[in-house]
Amino acid sequence: MDILTIHNLHKTFGKGENSVKALNGIDLTIEKGKFTAIIGASGSGKTTLLHMMGGLDTPDEGEVIVDGVNVSGLREKELAVFRRNKVGFIYQNFNLVPTLTVKENILFPLSLAGSAVDQEFLKEMIEVLHLEERLHSYPHELSGGGQQRVAIARALIAKPAIVLADEPTGNLDSRSGQNVLGLMKLSVETYHQTLVMITHNLEIAQMADRVVRIEDGSIRAQGG
Ligand SMILES: Nc1ncnc2c1ncn2[C@@H]1O[C@H](COP(=O)(O)OP(=O)(O)OP(=O)(O)O)[C@@H](O)[C@H]1O
Ligand SMILES: [Mg+2]
Repeated sequence: MDILTIHNLHKTFGKGENSVKALNGIDLTIEKGKFTAIIGASGSGKTTLLHMMGGLDTPDEGEVIVDGVNVSGLREKELAVFRRNKVGFIYQNFNLVPTLTVKENILFPLSLAGSAVDQEFLKEMIEVLHLEERLHSYPHELSGGGQQRVAIARALIAKPAIVLADEPTGNLDSRSGQNVLGLMKLSVETYHQTLVMITHNLEIAQMADRVVRIEDGSIRAQGG
């Protein structure tokens, strides 16, 4: 089953001489429960594409359909609800709230939505991600790898339709990067999550079920 369908996506930034065509007619479908890696040179349009998938930016032309919702047709308010209910984001620089504890950070999406906490799921994920001992710590007290494990838990807690990660191991040394990635893959498999991850690291891309290569705003090659 496809959880995400993208049709003929176009995006240009700026106007006239200085304009940049970031996406040039992207067609792509993402299967539910699969780990897809997106690779491509710097400036090829990867982040722009990921932002469109997550309703963080709107295309000039084309469609993004996530879990039956036509994202391109939503207004700003509806987009916020869509992001909250359907998407988990993981960034290179973790983006945790510094004044909240690890546990509060993990539960943050649910607090925002006013949704109940699935205590069983929370407990299990904390174990899988080795965060038992850190629940009452603050982000700055954790290593980069620790902070990224918190960000993973936060992205998964609301059981979103898709998890979108933009170079999640880019700021980690290669060992903690591998650890974090292994845990991410494990949690995605355990919870049948759909994961789309941008990476420059070919070793990481090899762990994916499928690799999509972007060149100059177009899809050049797809594996898997
Ligand atoms: N908000 C913006 N305003 C103007 N230009 C932008 C904006 N966002 C992206 N671009 C341009 O669009 C093109 C694609 O950018 P994008 O960030 O998607 O690339 P990327 O593949 O993620 O690159 P990197 O690997 O360096 O992160 C680039 O030329 C970039 O400069
Ligand atoms: Mg990018």
